[in-house]
Amino acid sequence: MNHLNHVAIIMDGNGRWGIKYKKSRNAGHRAGLDTVEKIIKHSIKKKIKYLTLFAFSTENWKRPKSEINYLFKLLEFFISEKIDELNKENIKIKIIGSKNLNKKIFKLLNYAEKKTENNNKIQVNLALNYGSRNEIITSIKKIIKNKIRVNEKNFEKFLFTKNIPDPDILIRTGNKNRLSNFLLWQLSYSEIFFEKKLWPDFNEKDFEIIIKKFKRIKRNFGSI
Ligand code: IPE
Ligand code: IPE
Ligand code: MG
Repeated sequence: MNHLNHVAIIMDGNGRWGIKYKKSRNAGHRAGLDTVEKIIKHSIKKKIKYLTLFAFSTENWKRPKSEINYLFKLLEFFISEKIDELNKENIKIKIIGSKNLNKKIFKLLNYAEKKTENNNKIQVNLALNYGSRNEIITSIKKIIKNKIRVNEKNFEKFLFTKNIPDPDILIRTGNKNRLSNFLLWQLSYSEIFFEKKLWPDFNEKDFEIIIKKFKRIKRNFGSI
């Protein structure tokens, strides 16, 4: 049986859910936040050590301003309202992605990371303003600047995911079978599960089915 250490999730389908049930994409984003809390709790229960959640991509800036503003409002609400509870639960928050964001958000994210840095029940990586191609180019630039040898180990030292083991599982909800510029390097040997349900409808039971399937997969890593 495979050990499950790291789960990465592309939380897709909020907009469609919002339109379908509330005639508003933003309502879908709000509902998606409840799923985030459920899945964090369930991950702790399953003794998963790393949970990486794709919350906003470098390409999501192409969306209408009103939607972008709402997403960052939600993030602000989530961090400021929940940080004490997350901290009490011994959850470590880490941001992966460029923190080139407005000052208020930047400060809040740093505060959340600092406050929870010594926690060790689970590490929740929030992929925010994250793009894998950008991450890869940035790492290569740093290797060149530091005049060090180009190899896998050195390359990984300059990724946002430095010191984080690769995901064992990638889940994408929302019935789209693509990676959308998420963790292209890190997902090389992850088991991928595409889920038809939209993110706000995804629940602990669906998660449990995936975990059970994962445990029984024969992982080869190129061997036999
Ligand atoms: C994913 O849901 C959440 C973010 C990208 C922030 P979407 O907003 O992409 O939802 P759909 O895919 O349009 O339904
Ligand atoms: C990926 O979903 C990004 C997040 C879930 C944050 P998108 O909805 O942005 O992906 P595409 O544009 O459909 O590929
Ligand atoms: Mg989408």
